[in-house]
Amino acid sequence: MKIGMFDSGVGGLTLLHEALHVMPDEAYFYYADSDHVPYGIRDKEEVAEYSDEAVEFLLEQGCEAIVIACNTATSVAANLLRGKYSVPIIGVEPAVKPAVEMNSDGRILVIATPITVREKKFRDLLDRVDDRHKVDMLALPELVSFAERGEFDSESVSSYISKELDKYISEHSENGVELKDYDILVFGCTHFNHFERALRPFFKKELIMIDGAEGTIRNLQHIMSENGAKSEGKGYVRYFVSGREVTGTETAAFYEKLLQHLDAE
Ligand code: DGL
Repeated sequence: MKIGMFDSGVGGLTLLHEALHVMPDEAYFYYADSDHVPYGIRDKEEVAEYSDEAVEFLLEQGCEAIVIACNTATSVAANLLRGKYSVPIIGVEPAVKPAVEMNSDGRILVIATPITVREKKFRDLLDRVDDRHKVDMLALPELVSFAERGEFDSESVSSYISKELDKYISEHSENGVELKDYDILVFGCTHFNHFERALRPFFKKELIMIDGAEGTIRNLQHIMSENGAKSEGKGYVRYFVSGREVTGTETAAFYEKLLQHLDAE
C-alpha cells in the first residue's frame, strides 16, 4: 500500500521511523513542508491550507492512506481533511490518555507547539481524560527550529530548555509545582522526540517519556487490515519537500541520518 505522511518538516520522521519498524514492506511518501515550517506559531487557517495542499499532492502520487505526522496539523485540519477526502486520514495526537492511564502519583507535562496547546481539540481531550487534573502543558516552539537545523545536543538547545522550564516553574510556583513532581513527559509535537537526551537532565531520573507514534501507527495498521490493504511487497521511502521530490543525495541523507538519530535516542 502507498502511504502518504506529512509534517511541517523533520518531525514526522518519528512516525515514519515507527511505521518502518512495524510495516517495513509498504511504500512511504514522506512530505516535509519545509517551505512553511514552523506550523506551530502560524494562524490556524494557514496551517489548514498547507495541510490541504500536502494531502492533495500525496493523493496525486497515488497514496491510499494519509498519516498527518504532525500534532499541530491534526489539531487544526484533521476534521476538515476527513470531510473533504475519502481515503483514511489518521492523525497523531498528544498521548495524554495513555499517560493518564499509567496512573502514576506524579504530574504529567505535555510539551507541544503554541497552536496545539491552545486548540480546542487538545482542550477537549483534556476534558475527556484528565479528571484528576494532573496534566500541565508547555509550548516549546524553538525546538522545532533546532530540529530543522539538525541541532539536538548543543549548548543553545540546553539553555533554551533551561530558560523555558525556569520561566514555567516560576509562573506556576503559587501552585507549588516543581520539576521533580513530573513522572511523565508527553511529546505533543513530533519534532520533540529528537530531544530526549537534551530534556532528560532537567527532570527526575525515573521520568517516563511517551509520544503518539506507536498508537497512531497501530491505528493505521488496523485501518489497513480492515480495508484489506495489500502490501507493496518491497518497502521503500520517497521524500518530498513542499511538493518537490528530493533527488539530491544531500537532503535524502539528512533524513536518513535523522531516522538513525531516532534509533539512538
Ligand atoms: N511537528 C509538528 C507537530 O507535531 C509541528 C512543528 C511546527 O512546525 O511548529 O506539532
